[in-house]
Amino acid sequence: MDKKVTVVGAGNVGATAAQRLAEKELCDVVLIDILDGVPQGKALDLTEAAPIEKHDAHLTGANTYEASKDSDIVIITAGIARKPGMSRDDLISTNAGIINDVTKQIVAYSPEAILIIVSNPLDAMCHVAFDASGFPKNRVVGMAGVLDSARFRAFISMELNVSVESIHAFVLGGHGDTMVPLPRFSTVAGIPITELIPQDRIDALVDRTANGGAEIVSLLKTGSAYYAPASAAVEMAESILKDKKKILPCAAYLQGEYGIQDLFIGVPVKLGSKGIEDIIEISLTDTEKAALMNSAAAVQDLKDDLKKLG
Ligand SMILES: NC(=O)c1ccc[n+]([C@@H]2O[C@H](COP(=O)([O-])OP(=O)(O)OC[C@H]3O[C@@H](n4cnc5c(N)ncnc54)[C@H](O)[C@@H]3O)[C@@H](O)[C@H]2O)c1
Repeated sequence: MDKKVTVVGAGNVGATAAQRLAEKELCDVVLIDILDGVPQGKALDLTEAAPIEKHDAHLTGANTYEASKDSDIVIITAGIARKPGMSRDDLISTNAGIINDVTKQIVAYSPEAILIIVSNPLDAMCHVAFDASGFPKNRVVGMAGVLDSARFRAFISMELNVSVESIHAFVLGGHGDTMVPLPRFSTVAGIPITELIPQDRIDALVDRTANGGAEIVSLLKTGSAYYAPASAAVEMAESILKDKKKILPCAAYLQGEYGIQDLFIGVPVKLGSKGIEDIIEISLTDTEKAALMNSAAAVQDLKDDLKKLG
C-alpha cells in the first residue's frame, strides 16, 4: 500500500480499527501497544486472515515507535476505557498522561502525520495531543460525532424500519452527556425526521443517542463499545487518505467559530488530505445554541481540570 496508518493502542478499538483499515485495503497498518506481544500477536493474526479476506495490506505490531515512521495518519486509542458506573470524565488523569507520552513519541517519527484522537474523555484528550504535538489545528481531529451520529442513525432506522443508508443525522458538541443531536438537520432521504417521527419519540431517540456509550458499557460490563467506534475512526481516516472531502462531525479546535474560543468541540468539518480543510458553520436556533454552549462549558471544565493536573 502507498499509505501508512499507525494505530496506538492494540485493545478493542485499536485492533478493530486495524482490521477494518486492512480489510478495506486503505493502507499498511502499524499497531503499537505497551503490552509485550499483544500488538505483534494481533498484527500476525490479522495477517493470517488476509488470504481469506483477500487483501494485501501489511500489518506490523510493535512496542516502540520506530515502525511508525512516516505515517500519514496516527489513530490514538491508547489508554483505559470506562467500566459500569464510570463517566468518560473519570478517565482524565490516567489518559492525559498516556496521550501526552504517546503523542510526543509519534511526533518524533511522523512530524507530518494527521492525528485522529479516540481516547476519552475525547475533547480533553484532543487538547492534550494538540499541545504535546505542536501540530497546526488542521492536523489534530477527534472522533466522536461520527460515532454519535451513527448511533442516532441506527436508532432512527429501527424506529422507522428504513435502510440506514437513507438516513443522515447531525450531532454537535462535546462527546459526553451534553452532546447535542439536532433533529431538524437529521433526515431520511432528505426529509427532516421532525416530519416523520412524533416529538416524544424523537426525544427518546435523542436521549438514547446521548447515553449510547453508557448503554453498551452496562451490557458489556468489562469495557466499552468498539465496533462502531472503530468504524467511525476508519471512516475519518478513509476520507483523509482518499482526499474525499467528506463533511463529518468531528472534534475540531475552534477559534471563534460558533462563538467558541480555543476549544475542541464537535462541529461539521471537511476532512481531506490536509486533515480539517474547513469548519462548516450553520445558524442555530436559540435552543440549539444554548445546548451547544452548555456542552462547550462542560468541555471547558475538563480543559481547566487538565491545567490543574499540570
Ligand atoms: N471517542 C469515542 O467515541 C470513543 C469510543 C470508544 C472508546 N473510546 C476510548 O478509546 C480508548 C480505548 O478503548 P478500548 O475499548 O480500545 O480500550 P482497551 O482497554 O481495549 O485498549 C486500550 C489499549 O491501550 C493500551 N495502552 C495503555 N497505555 C498505553 C501506552 N502508554 N502506549 C500504548 N498503548 C497503551 C492498553 O495496553 C490497551 O491494549 C478508551 O479511552 C475509550 O474510552 C472512545
